[in-house]
Amino acid sequence: MSTNLIYRHGTVYELLMRGLYGRHYRARYRAVASRIPGGADVLDLCCGPATLYTRHLRGNSVRYTGLDLNERFIARLERAGASGQVWDLHSETPLPAADYVVMQASLYHFLPDPEPVIDRMLAAARHGVLIAEPVRNLTASDNRVLAGIGSRFTDPGDGEQPRRFTEETLDELFRGYPEHVEERTLIAGGREKLYVLRP
Ligand SMILES: C[S@@+](CC[C@H](N)C(=O)[O-])C[C@H]1O[C@@H](n2cnc3c(N)ncnc32)[C@H](O)[C@@H]1O
Repeated sequence: MSTNLIYRHGTVYELLMRGLYGRHYRARYRAVASRIPGGADVLDLCCGPATLYTRHLRGNSVRYTGLDLNERFIARLERAGASGQVWDLHSETPLPAADYVVMQASLYHFLPDPEPVIDRMLAAARHGVLIAEPVRNLTASDNRVLAGIGSRFTDPGDGEQPRRFTEETLDELFRGYPEHVEERTLIAGGREKLYVLRP
C-alpha cells in the first residue's frame, strides 16, 4: 500500500494508526488533549484527519485550526466544522498565532533539520508548544502487513537521512531548548514521547 493511498484516505489512515498503536491509540491523543484547557486557540501542525479535534477536543470549546500538506485532510476537517489550511511546513512563512501549537507524530518529516519548524512553533505559541513523537519503532509490529505499511508510513523517501527519532535522539534535540522545556513524558505505552515547551 503506498504512502499516498494511506494519506489520501482519512479512514485508511485511522485504521492504520489504530493497528500500529493498538490499545494505546486513544491514549496518545488523550495525553495531548489533556494539556489543552477548554476555550483555548489550538493550531495543529501536520494535523492529518484531525482526530485530535474530532474525537478529543471538539467538546472542549477550543478554537481549532489544522495545517497539513494534504488537501483531502483539510477538506475533511472543514466538513467537521473546524478551520484548516493546506500548508507546507517546510516553508519559512511564520505560523498563525495560537495559545497552543501542537505537532503529533510528524516531526520526523523534518529530519535532518527539525529545529526551524520547532522555532516557528515557539514563535507562534502564546502559552505552550506540545510535540509528541514516536520513539519506539512501530514498524517492529508482530503483524508483518502492518510492519511493512508502518515502515513506508514513516519513510520521507529521501533514502540517505535518518528516518525517525529514538528516545535518545529526541531527548538530544530538546536538550537544545533548555529554557523552554517544561515537561517530557512517555505516552501511549512508551510509543511516543510528549514534550511540553513554554514559549
Ligand atoms: C503520521 S501523520 C500524523 C497526523 C496526526 N498529527 C496524527 O497524529 O494523527 C503525518 C502528517 O504529516 C503531514 N505532512 C507531512 N509533511 C508535511 C509538510 N511538509 N507540511 C505539512 N504537512 C505535512 C502528512 O500529510 C500527514 O497528514
